[in-house]
Amino acid sequence: MALRRGGLLGNLICGQCGQKFSLEEQVWKCSCGGLLDIQFQPAFPLEKIKKRKPTMWRYREAIPISADQDIISFEEGFTPLLPVNFNGKKAWLKQDHLFPTGSYKDRGSSVLMSKVKELGIQKVVEDSSGNAGCSIAAYGVKGGIQSDIFVPQSTSPGKLAQIESYGASLKKIPGSREDTARAVWNAAQKDYYASHSWNPFFFHGTKTFAFEVWEQLGWKAPDTVIVPVGNGTLLLGTWLGFGELLDAGMIRETPRIIGVQAALCAPLVKAFREGSKKIPSIHPRETLAEGIAIAEPVRGEQIVEAVKKSGGGFIAVDDEEIKASLLWTFRRGFYIEPTSAATVAGVFKYLEGADPEEIIVSVLTGHGLKATEKILKILRESYSGQ
Ligand SMILES: Cc1ncc(COP(=O)(O)O)c(C=O)c1O
Ligand SMILES: [Zn+2]
Repeated sequence: MALRRGGLLGNLICGQCGQKFSLEEQVWKCSCGGLLDIQFQPAFPLEKIKKRKPTMWRYREAIPISADQDIISFEEGFTPLLPVNFNGKKAWLKQDHLFPTGSYKDRGSSVLMSKVKELGIQKVVEDSSGNAGCSIAAYGVKGGIQSDIFVPQSTSPGKLAQIESYGASLKKIPGSREDTARAVWNAAQKDYYASHSWNPFFFHGTKTFAFEVWEQLGWKAPDTVIVPVGNGTLLLGTWLGFGELLDAGMIRETPRIIGVQAALCAPLVKAFREGSKKIPSIHPRETLAEGIAIAEPVRGEQIVEAVKKSGGGFIAVDDEEIKASLLWTFRRGFYIEPTSAATVAGVFKYLEGADPEEIIVSVLTGHGLKATEKILKILRESYSGQ
């Protein structure tokens, strides 16, 4: 089911200087240093979509990969969307911790690594707080592409083991998440950077979150979507996906988007509150929500702009709220990692002022089995009443 013979119609475009590149070029950033986005025309042929397997690739005509033979997929996606009772109030939770590598990052990796295969690239580098690294490593090994994964030394052992298990070369970097980003930057001068924050193809995978929600709600957009945000791959994907549905006349309005950050590392909350276009520098402190502890988000300005345009906002949650939400979520039968509990804490806060009729969708992003040590510690502390 090739989209168009001879490749897709479309291009990469720099948000800073407007320079365009062909989709066949091996570029992940502009020569001026600016961020690239993809311009192409997605289509949503409903009758075809309904007949396909329940995976994220059922929206095939909306994903900018030319030929089916390059697709690297475990038939992932179309995760369950369950209604959950938040102490008397309802929100829908999408079960994105149930992806093959245990996090929603597989949406982005499946599309990005398919593009890498299409470009004929044999080796990539990536940096991550853990989950994106696990995901790129898994799709790499499935597609026969070598990957070097850079992570902070302090990353949860479960994620380190997972990256190594797939046969990726694991590079543990001492210091902060930003030190890891600097280390991969040097490696990316030589090898292709399969970055979940820089590379625009990743976002054309995470946008399938929006398509699935739309279909699962009976081809309707919700009023509100609440997502965790560090580098914004899910948040920007959600905005992109609903934007494409709006442009294609599939929905009448985009939902408001609420981004949840850990209070101990919340540059986007600060930027939004202060109304500043530039993302202010902050002094990040260690938080249980390791996956969203990003002090210098590459697409920070884009994220704040998307949230503003959507009519949404940001919520900060502290580590005590994250702990309480984690334990609450476990007792509903969902086994998630602490980062994902930040979102649950955000949903509780949002629901305090929500309209009872509002359709609210949120997400569980990462599996608990990745963070056994942290979870054991939290459980022990909760038993001893600390
Ligand atoms: C479990 C989990 N949830 C949410 C996020 C946030 O993703 P992003 O940094 O793309 O906003 C991450 C990122 O690593 C994660 O691992
Ligand atoms: Zn440029």
